[in-house]
Amino acid sequence: ADGTLELPVVVNVLYNTAAQNISERQINSQIDVLNEDFAASNKDLNSTSTYNSVKSGDIKIKFVLQQIVRKSTPITAFYTDNAMKNSKRGGIDATSPETTLNIWVCNMVGGILGYAQFPGGNKATDGVVITTRAFGRGRSYDLYTDFDLGRTTTHEVGHYFNLRHIWGDRKCGNDYVDDTPLHPTYNFGCPPANKISTCDGSIEMTMNYMDYTDDACMYMFTQKQALRMQATYALGGPRETLR
Ligand code: ARG
Ligand code: ZN
Ligand code: CA
Repeated sequence: ADGTLELPVVVNVLYNTAAQNISERQINSQIDVLNEDFAASNKDLNSTSTYNSVKSGDIKIKFVLQQIVRKSTPITAFYTDNAMKNSKRGGIDATSPETTLNIWVCNMVGGILGYAQFPGGNKATDGVVITTRAFGRGRSYDLYTDFDLGRTTTHEVGHYFNLRHIWGDRKCGNDYVDDTPLHPTYNFGCPPANKISTCDGSIEMTMNYMDYTDDACMYMFTQKQALRMQATYALGGPRETLR
């Protein structure tokens, strides 16, 4: 009634080793991160004040863990070919993708942290994929050092709700969001808070979830990013069946 989207989430866990069959606690830690980041109640939100005037505030998407589906798989490492979403290829079929966010957690090949499907795609493959070692938050889990705060899932869910990378995937490219600055390219690691953009001299928003910085150095969406996400599940939007 207050316009909050209550989004049921199904987490599909694929494991080839016992360690990849992650605990319910690890899964819940990731749901907590999503709820904090999308409500702008994350503790690191005010690590810098530079972009305070455009920080999203509460985006009003509540992630509700509905089900955990677990399956042992012979696949030791998955590619970005959607095999993890297909029971005939060692994966798990999506659950009710019209109304539910499906997250697949599996061991990805190489250093791939995750990937997402934009709105408007095939329902059978809709959702986000996160590599096991970047899913959840907490030092007690076997997570990559720089990707241990659950921000890979925040980033991928941003794509699921139609957000582009902040650099527009080309030199000083367009992300279709007019309160984010132009970036010449992606950032890695933890850049200084007042890095100047070579596109136009503005300050880069390296702390935005849609850059490629370390988990500890990304902590905000903008107001216009929030509007772009909300438009996908508004009436007439490509994800209106989520409402
Ligand atoms: N490379 C991935 C993508 O383009 C995710 C990057 C996530 N970054 C992070 N700090 N967790 O979708
Ligand atoms: Zn991305
Ligand atoms: Ca922009």
